[in-house]
Amino acid sequence: MECGLQEAEIGIIGGSGLYSMPGLTNVREQRITTPFGDPSDAFVLGSLAGRKVAFLSRHGRGHLLLPSELNFRANVYGMKKLGVERILSVSAVGSLKEEHKPTDFVIPDQFIDRTFHRESTFFGNGIVGHIAFGDPVCAVVGQAIATACESVGVVGKRGGTYVCMEGPQFSTRAESNLYRSWGADVIGMTNLQEAKLAREAEICYATMAMVTDYDCWHESHDAVTVEQVIAVLNQNAANASKVVAAAVAAIPAERNCACGSALQYAILTSPPAISP
Ligand code: ADE
Repeated sequence: MECGLQEAEIGIIGGSGLYSMPGLTNVREQRITTPFGDPSDAFVLGSLAGRKVAFLSRHGRGHLLLPSELNFRANVYGMKKLGVERILSVSAVGSLKEEHKPTDFVIPDQFIDRTFHRESTFFGNGIVGHIAFGDPVCAVVGQAIATACESVGVVGKRGGTYVCMEGPQFSTRAESNLYRSWGADVIGMTNLQEAKLAREAEICYATMAMVTDYDCWHESHDAVTVEQVIAVLNQNAANASKVVAAAVAAIPAERNCACGSALQYAILTSPPAISP
């Protein structure tokens, strides 16, 4: 994959409630074209905590795109083209466990796929590749987020399983209870495709998932509504941007994890035979 520009080393994908990145300096915008179509918005380039970052609003500024309408491939390709090696994703999630309370941050390390309507690979059209995905999250970026939560003084829980659902409707109670019976921790609509595509692009990926609600399983809490999600996001927005800045600062400059060589044994397609 092409990765020509060296505009940014760390990518930030902002979810619901985080449409811009406070604290960014030397800001400029760059639109990127990709073979997969247009990313969700222009990339906002700048410096944060002394590092060169690229910020992308996942749903576009103004929140114009449904989860199923997101062009995940263009978003990750755009990051790669800018030179990004690590992606820090920010998203809102519902809690599937009593102990994950609204305003807590969870840093999931596993996913369950409940999507069915999305482009989730850069492969195909003659190139067959299968990346390893047993550990779908970069432990180094995950640790940076956990360290950042601690330094900001907010609850940040390392590990847990994120159910990625198609949406846009929230779950039925039967579905919510099913995911709980699987032992899953949180539920959201966007992070799995980003994690898959980042791995295929050899970019590290981890997410700070802000709990906004108890979905619809909890007997003493109302079933989730958008109003409730937005209220918690607004209440916790300042913490979210402080954690992002501290996490950016905590990501080590040197890259020693395996994410950067994910394609080493992944591609099956042989080069075409050269005719004599
Ligand atoms: N995002 C925030 N809360 C959610 C929930 N309960 N289900 C799916 N996505 C969410």
